[in-house]
Amino acid sequence: MSLPAVLTLAYHAREPHPREVPLEAVYRDLEAPPPTGRPHVVLNMVQTLDGAVAVEGKAWQIGSEVDHYLFRTLRGWADAVLCGAGTLRQNDIVAVTHPHLQAARAAAGRPANPAAFVVSGRAEFSDAVLRKRFFAHREFASVVITTELSRAADRRRVEEAGAEVWVVPADASGEVDLEATLGLLADRGFGRVLAEGGPATNRRLVEAQVLDELFLTVSPQVAGVPARPGILVGILGGAQVGLALISEFQYRDPTLREWYLRFAVAR
Ligand SMILES: NC(=O)c1ccc[n+]([C@@H]2O[C@H](COP(=O)([O-])OP(=O)(O)OC[C@H]3O[C@@H](n4cnc5c(N)ncnc54)[C@H](OP(=O)(O)O)[C@@H]3O)[C@@H](O)[C@H]2O)c1
Repeated sequence: MSLPAVLTLAYHAREPHPREVPLEAVYRDLEAPPPTGRPHVVLNMVQTLDGAVAVEGKAWQIGSEVDHYLFRTLRGWADAVLCGAGTLRQNDIVAVTHPHLQAARAAAGRPANPAAFVVSGRAEFSDAVLRKRFFAHREFASVVITTELSRAADRRRVEEAGAEVWVVPADASGEVDLEATLGLLADRGFGRVLAEGGPATNRRLVEAQVLDELFLTVSPQVAGVPARPGILVGILGGAQVGLALISEFQYRDPTLREWYLRFAVAR
């Protein structure tokens, strides 16, 4: 599939519409995050029309190449990409943006790519997972965020595989305290956090009230995957949240339509 030159901006809360926008400009010049004292956290997900976030465990094939282009553009905005360990175990996490955005970031004194963070209570990964590009890649920094409750031997294996380990406080239920994690990210200069799933982690972000925006691609496929608790309970893992539409882009082609939605999360 060749990439389209433009997407149709069907709606925008603050900008003129409808109009055609060059693909390369979509999501490229997002507003600077408001100064709130913690990182601005946006979530980017793709789902099928019937709400599946993965087919046979993989999310990659749900979105088209246009969706893949846009998630790389969003990584150009981000200082940090944040995922749950389940996503790393079932897929891989490679926090790389487009070459032209890498060059722009480097010119502005930023790392060429955002750093990749994986949240994991256990920090326990199989040999096959420890060989994934998240650990082996040298184009971006890789960090596993865990607590003292994980085993020291598992944390050592993560470091030997090529990722840093950050040990943060556990919350009352023994999980990684996400508020403390975001505080640490802010202290270390990671003001723009792009969460990329999966639903179990998204749910925790909503429950910790730290999610600011949702970018959602809706792909016109019906996956027909039977519901499996924990994974296929929607993009927010069953959490409830109020959303206000910021923008809606569409890709219209005789053979494919896709919708790219951006929402503000209501407090
Ligand atoms: N459609 C999309 O856009 C998209 C995006 C991403 C992923 N996915 C799909 O989603 C599926 C994975 O999602 P999932 O919901 O099963 O898993 P997930 O959210 O990726 O990972 C859940 C795991 O993250 C760790 N975790 C997250 N928050 C934590 C906290 N506060 N404290 C401690 N541990 C925490 C735990 O790891 P430990 O078990 O190590 O303690 C937990 O088991 C995959 O099939 C993937 O393909 C889809």
